Amino acid sequence: MAEEKINVNGTVITFFSTASAVGKTLVSCNVAAELARLGHRVCLADLDLQFGDVCNYLQLMPQQTLADAQNAIHVQGDAFHVEQYLTMYTHDQTRFYVLASPQRLDEAYNIQAAEVRKIIQHLRSMFDYVLLDTTSMFSVLNLSMLDMSTIVTFLGIVDFLPTIKNMKIGNDTLKNLNYDINKIRLVLNRSDSVTRISREDVEELLGESFDYILPNDFKAANRSIKDGVPLVLGGDQTPLGDALCDMAAQYTNRGLDDEVYDEGNNNSWFSRLFH
Ligand SMILES: Nc1ncnc2c1ncn2[C@@H]1O[C@H](COP(=O)(O)OP(=O)(O)OP(=O)(O)O)[C@@H](O)[C@H]1O
Ligand SMILES: [Mg+2]
Repeated sequence: MAEEKINVNGTVITFFSTASAVGKTLVSCNVAAELARLGHRVCLADLDLQFGDVCNYLQLMPQQTLADAQNAIHVQGDAFHVEQYLTMYTHDQTRFYVLASPQRLDEAYNIQAAEVRKIIQHLRSMFDYVLLDTTSMFSVLNLSMLDMSTIVTFLGIVDFLPTIKNMKIGNDTLKNLNYDINKIRLVLNRSDSVTRISREDVEELLGESFDYILPNDFKAANRSIKDGVPLVLGGDQTPLGDALCDMAAQYTNRGLDDEVYDEGNNNSWFSRLFH
């Protein structure tokens, strides 16, 4: 790849939720594409280890994955070059890179949070933005990724009561981690889908309002997945594509200092959660 190592200490943005199918992958692919379109160096890492969809949504056929990167960093130490494990996505003039999720279940099981942290640190030294697509659980891996993130994008949808109950648990748990208040961005996806629960009621339950609101557009979302082209690059102007562009633009106005990330203190989230 053309990028050289430039030590940029890139912004890490994690896309997280406490329910499945709320749009983490669709939104992270689109934010990656839009930041790249704006001229930033971007890498999207698929940390949905067992069921990663990033390469499906972008129609990529990775030759190397996170599993290969972990094996290599283990063996090579300081000689490790993360760029060998990335897959390039291009559309028209826009390009960004993907660190693909493992292809086999046994590889997924063997991924270690400590090794992933090291890999993300390598990516941070090369890219302006390192985006992390995750799964919907407070796993060891996800908690340590939340800790090392500059921004956590916590997505929710307003559909059924269990989803909203889990959003409340997730939001309260994130608050208990005592991050800078600006670090967590609450996103309501599929905002105008038909539901009997109002956004205002959910905001009251959560004790705060959503930072970004994305409209429901099943047709546009599905077409972009079928074509393998994020909405923000697709050429058709849609309300969902426009909202995703606006959201990505707000990430470029970083407005918060990096929290001090202590590589030696891997259990910091653990002690804060279970004190
Ligand atoms: N704003 C939206 N409007 C309509 N459909 C959407 C919207 N956002 C996401 N979707 C659709 O919802 C489905 C789930 O999206 P996605 O795979 O991004 O969710 P996820 O949170 O990554 O799920 P998982 O937890 O299974 O990884 C997809 O079919 C996607 O096209
Ligand atoms: Mg997903």
